[in-house]
Amino acid sequence: ESKEITISRGLEGIYIAETTLCKIDGANGRLWYRGYPIEVLAENSNYEEVSYLLLFGKLPNRKELSAFRERLKAERDVPPVVFDIVEEMSGRAHPMDVLRTCISSLSIYDEDPEDKSQQANIRRAIKLIAKTASIVAYMGRYRQGKDYVPPDSSLDHSANFLYMLTGKKPDEMAAKLIDLMFILHAEHGSNASTFSTLVTGSTLADVYAAVTAGAATLKGPLHGGADEAALRMMYSIGDPDNTETYIEEALEGKRRIMGFGHRVYKAYDPRAKIVRKYLELYQERNPSEEVSRLLQIALRAEKLMLEKLSKTKGIWPNIDFFAGPLYRAIDVPAELFTPIFAASRMVGWCAHLFEYWQNNRLFRPLDNYVGEVDKKYVPIDQRE
Ligand code: SDX
Repeated sequence: ESKEITISRGLEGIYIAETTLCKIDGANGRLWYRGYPIEVLAENSNYEEVSYLLLFGKLPNRKELSAFRERLKAERDVPPVVFDIVEEMSGRAHPMDVLRTCISSLSIYDEDPEDKSQQANIRRAIKLIAKTASIVAYMGRYRQGKDYVPPDSSLDHSANFLYMLTGKKPDEMAAKLIDLMFILHAEHGSNASTFSTLVTGSTLADVYAAVTAGAATLKGPLHGGADEAALRMMYSIGDPDNTETYIEEALEGKRRIMGFGHRVYKAYDPRAKIVRKYLELYQERNPSEEVSRLLQIALRAEKLMLEKLSKTKGIWPNIDFFAGPLYRAIDVPAELFTPIFAASRMVGWCAHLFEYWQNNRLFRPLDNYVGEVDKKYVPIDQRE
């Protein structure tokens, strides 16, 4: 007999596991990593400390943090195979395709693939967190036709990333902004790319396979790709006075405004508030014509969207909306936005994978077959 089957499209509203990594309060626009409000971490912490918190479940003391920092520094160099992949693929493939391939290739350098212990997996996570940032920086160098910049061990993780990308040690404000973006993108529950990571890991495939699935998933414009798409929209609006017309036409044409809307947040994404706050702060201190124009467009688009869609349809700005103008303020090229998102989220993918493996169960949902059964096979010369 056919029992009542309800399909949850996109698994909306379905819980897949218990976690202590991250809490999202979608109705009120709140976010916590391991119980700490994101605003507190954004203001006081740094990406290395947040990575430690996510991987080990507590804030490190001085000794633990400096040991963790040393382990990350020791893994910053870009391995040989990555140079070949970046040089062979850049200009012929989307940056996220290049990055996904590089991440996948790192498995050949694993000290002992058979070692499935927790400390071996932490070692893999540290290698992946450190190297993915360096790989993204080298991708940026190569695309600008510039040479590889070796890591600088006097800099922390995200400042070193900016250094390897630009060849210049970032000033204090730029270092704070890039570290902020690394913190804000580090973790966000069972989002699509983390879910992909978990599905792959649930078959007991290895860490590299699982995070490669995560990176492949993050590319899509409905997920990680929205930050670049939102900035491109701002550039095509061009003059702030075109903003309202552009947005209204897009909405009339049922086109999505990238950087708005979220499956869980039905309120202002708390991360977007933080990005906007620091962007406005930076703009006051280091005014630039391009950024102030982008900021005006973003604020006017936000104002219109809040009036038109937030109250009625629960569509609010998300982290991707103000990310572009902020990255432009520190000279990060648009094609690296999603790769940076991946470099940051690497710790979230690994932390969720290790947590899920504590109580692993193969993901195998059902689909409801609605076709015919036992159809008659007709030999080909009797078919119309
Ligand atoms: C991230 O999950 C995470 O946590 C992700 C993330 C993370 O940190 O990992 O937070 C990062 O991916 C942020 C989201 C980035 N994506 C975008 O900005 C792309 C634009 N946003 C959407 O396409 C959309 O809002 C989603 C994909 C994010 C969520 O989609 P849902 O929950 O599946 O909602 P839906 O597509 O069913 O839309 C519901 C309605 C539709 O209207 P109707 O067809 O019912 O009339 O809302 C409309 C949509 O057309 N809508 C939008 C819109 N987003 C949804 N309309 C205009 N502009 C938008 N951006």
